[in-house]
Amino acid sequence: MAHDLVEFDTQKAHSARMYDYYLGGKDNFAADREAASTVMEVFPETAQAARANREFVHRAARFAARNGIRQFLDIGTGIPTEPNLHNAVQAVDPRCRVVYVDNDPLVLAHARALMFGSAEGRTDFVPADIRDPHVILESETLREVLDLSQPVALNLAAILHFVTDEEGAYDIVRTYMDAFAPGSHLAVTHGSSDLNPEVFEKIVGVYARAGMTVALRDKAAVTRFFDGLDLVEPGVVPMHRWRPNPDFYIPEERLAWADTAFGVWCGVGVKP
Ligand SMILES: C[S@@+](CC[C@H](N)C(=O)[O-])C[C@H]1O[C@@H](n2cnc3c(N)ncnc32)[C@H](O)[C@@H]1O
Repeated sequence: MAHDLVEFDTQKAHSARMYDYYLGGKDNFAADREAASTVMEVFPETAQAARANREFVHRAARFAARNGIRQFLDIGTGIPTEPNLHNAVQAVDPRCRVVYVDNDPLVLAHARALMFGSAEGRTDFVPADIRDPHVILESETLREVLDLSQPVALNLAAILHFVTDEEGAYDIVRTYMDAFAPGSHLAVTHGSSDLNPEVFEKIVGVYARAGMTVALRDKAAVTRFFDGLDLVEPGVVPMHRWRPNPDFYIPEERLAWADTAFGVWCGVGVKP
């Protein structure tokens, strides 16, 4: 049976609204701000790390678009923040089509109101849980917008650490990639258990106290998500090191600091 969507409850902190707060958004409530502020106390670079994560999402999506991909599936979209993924890829080609998926009804309400794509392309939304790949892959909306005989770029940014091994995280990702044509991309960002273990353990504790399970993974465990795919250079690296561009540039002498300060792995793989 498919998972229920998250219940809309402003008394309980939720990851989408906490992330919105990190990014300076206004779509959050007192419980979200309280939990997010506690994270920011133990991890003062949270806001910068969230922005670095968004920058990677755009670089990886533009990379796929420049590789000729015109279809995108973004699961765990988050509350809209300009630019959104469709803005990044439709700037490369306005015909790009994007399906957004999230299990938070607030994200979907905002997404419906805010995310208008180009006239030539298309953006649409599926309210669903990443752990239900068949529901998402067989949804009428996805099938209308995406042609699965052509390559798709799957974006899983800052979401897989909410899916545990016991819930089948690796099989779930494989199910999506198996459904896609050769040439499809997988882009991942993932909170690390090994770049800044002391601080990230504390963050896991804050989320746990707010009722959310976070499953951090080390570099080897994040790399496993790309099994069967060709990892694009430079491989699995701290997210600010993946093909940096002048929009998001960290000087050489600050790179090692940022590895620990942001504590997030990323990578892109291509289905052979
Ligand atoms: C930290 S935000 C990341 C947003 C965006 N992907 C980014 O990287 O900028 C995580 C998002 O994943 C969504 N999410 C968490 N668990 C999910 C699940 N099981 N199924 C679908 N979405 C989920 C949350 O609602 C939230 O919007």
